[in-house]
Amino acid sequence: MKIKNLIIFGTRPEAIKMAPLVKEFQKNTNHFETRVCVTAQHREMLDQVLHFFKITPDYDLDLMKANQNLYSLTADIISGLKSILEDFKPDYVYVHGDTTTTMAASIGAFYSGAKICHVEAGLRTHNKRSPFPEEINRQVTGRIADFHFAPTTASKNNLLAENINPNSILVTGNTVIDALLASVSIVDNVDNEEIDYLKTIIDSSKKIILVTGHRRENHGQGFNNICEALKEIAEQHLNVQVIYPVHLNPNVKEPVYEILSNISNVNLINPLTYPAFVWLMKQSYLIITDSGGVQEEAPSLGKPVLVMRDTTERPEAVDAGTVILVGTNKERIVSETNNLLINIGHYKYMSALHNPYGDGKACQRIVEFIRTN
Ligand code: UD1
Ligand code: UDP
Repeated sequence: MKIKNLIIFGTRPEAIKMAPLVKEFQKNTNHFETRVCVTAQHREMLDQVLHFFKITPDYDLDLMKANQNLYSLTADIISGLKSILEDFKPDYVYVHGDTTTTMAASIGAFYSGAKICHVEAGLRTHNKRSPFPEEINRQVTGRIADFHFAPTTASKNNLLAENINPNSILVTGNTVIDALLASVSIVDNVDNEEIDYLKTIIDSSKKIILVTGHRRENHGQGFNNICEALKEIAEQHLNVQVIYPVHLNPNVKEPVYEILSNISNVNLINPLTYPAFVWLMKQSYLIITDSGGVQEEAPSLGKPVLVMRDTTERPEAVDAGTVILVGTNKERIVSETNNLLINIGHYKYMSALHNPYGDGKACQRIVEFIRTN
């Protein structure tokens, strides 16, 4: 009898980080019957990833609503999964990380009786409001999961401190590195319209500062501060080009376009497909972000990162010296950016290559663990 796997995800970063796992299971059809369910908590930003990795979901809940709220999204995911779980009856359900899809899908899977596998398990800030609601999403999922695929030893240790059975934890590396290594080798030669477009807007005489941001706890005043900081940086440094693929969440889009439109060395663009974003990270001088995934990718590319958050569940890159937490304080964002633009020794120190998050073999380890357990 084949093992029945259901891999569930819903947002852009989950899709990027689960795509290599889908591919790895699909290579092994002797042992596994693997199906993919997307909640479509994200729509366009999810579809971009599915398209690039050539994944056709078996089930699509198609849930995204404009400016959705956490209450109805959570309820819709759990009730939408019921018939899928009851019809397919998976032995194992795989969820990733810390989104509302992750937390709600793990509750649904628990009700169905399936074993729950948590990919990217064990990251913690221990602050339930930051990141919000992700810290609690991840903790709830960790409580429910049967198997915990921890990206690093530090994340394993967080689980051990919560009395999770050590035999249920495997340190795998982060699957984001599997995705990155598969993509980084092709982006310089791939035929991609977005990369062609980026080449037309990039001014090669300038240093690129790549920006992304979306965190809920930064909505409102946080985003105003971030945008005011970027405006000051762009106006002070005419040898800099700020390129900002703006997240589609209206709570992000509105302040960003209001404050940063019409500045000659700031380009606000739509979210990029994954290969184009990887290509742009490679061209960048530095990255300013509040993204979890970007923090994990940048050290492998030797790009210094200023993280617009007060807390991090990813201490490895901070310890390695590639990442500095700057919060959403305007003066701090400006001064740390100035330091990286002016102090070349500091820049060189921060841009040393580090690989704290994995070796690109996380998915192989997960598949082997399930096959032999
Ligand atoms: C979600 C996750 C967050 C993750 C982030 C990655 C939760 C609570 N939040 O935040 O953990 O880091 O995704 O990007 O799980 N939208 C679109 N098209 C899209 C995607 C989003 O229009 O393809 C707009 C919609 O108006 C949607 C809104 O963005 O209602 C918010 O989407 P949602 O998934 O609730 O929150 P994110 O901020 O994207
Ligand atoms: N990313 C992308 N296009 C973009 C911006 C980011 O493909 O325009 C990728 C990025 O490489 C990383 C992931 O999306 O792998 C991060 O997603 P996001 O910042 O939305 O979520 P988080 O990682 O914070 O949960």
